[in-house]
Amino acid sequence: MKFSVIIPAGGIGKRFSTNMKKQFFKLNNKEIIYHTLFKISFLDAEEIIIGCDPYDEEDLKLILNSLNIDNYKFAPNGKERQHTVMNCLKIATQPHVFIHDAVRPFLSMKIIERLIGNYLDYDGVICGIKPNDTVKIINDKNNVDETIDRNRVLLVHTPQIFKKDILNKCLKEINERGLTITDEAMALEFFGYKVGFVNSEWYNIKITTQNDIYLAEYILNNFDMIAGG
Ligand code: CTP
Repeated sequence: MKFSVIIPAGGIGKRFSTNMKKQFFKLNNKEIIYHTLFKISFLDAEEIIIGCDPYDEEDLKLILNSLNIDNYKFAPNGKERQHTVMNCLKIATQPHVFIHDAVRPFLSMKIIERLIGNYLDYDGVICGIKPNDTVKIINDKNNVDETIDRNRVLLVHTPQIFKKDILNKCLKEINERGLTITDEAMALEFFGYKVGFVNSEWYNIKITTQNDIYLAEYILNNFDMIAGG
């Protein structure tokens, strides 16, 4: 299966709140995006498209060179993640796209194999985990409205994989209508396309706030034991 990898790396990390973009924050002396790209380098991708602030391209080139990755391209970031992904899609050449957050550095082969293994019957496949806690819906006055069946709730991760033409069409339409989405699968759901789901793993965390760094360091230092290679 021929696919393009898309790495949205064009955020500013407001919730991380340092003066540097969180994708360049260092874990064990290497940038978070270095660790992510290291995992991505094991994929047999035709091309790796990084959606980023053009200002960051030189730093990213150094990281890519250090990983011996040469099949990369850059696309400019957009105002929201969905615009960054759209810009990447515009230059993607392959029939399938594999999208993974720059700030989710603990991707494992286990997750990738599940995703690709289940892709055949769908227009897209996403991964995620079911919550362990009780899940409630609250209203805008902070009153509890209802408790919902947590087995029907999914906390969504990346990677996600899609047929490029379908994602391109849906995302274009979503952007033209000015709608907000928080992952690419939402664009397909909106137009009734078939999106499948596989389990992710607890360690496939997204670095969002400073608190995530404690767990990230632990996972990084014990990755082989935790993820089985
Ligand atoms: N992203 C992007 N373009 C944007 C916004 C986000 O490519 N305009 C990317 C981020 O760089 C990140 C991924 O989307 O790799 C997931 O987004 P998130 O964790 O929300 O990152 P930020 O937008 O940087 O964080 P925040 O929401 O705290 O500002």
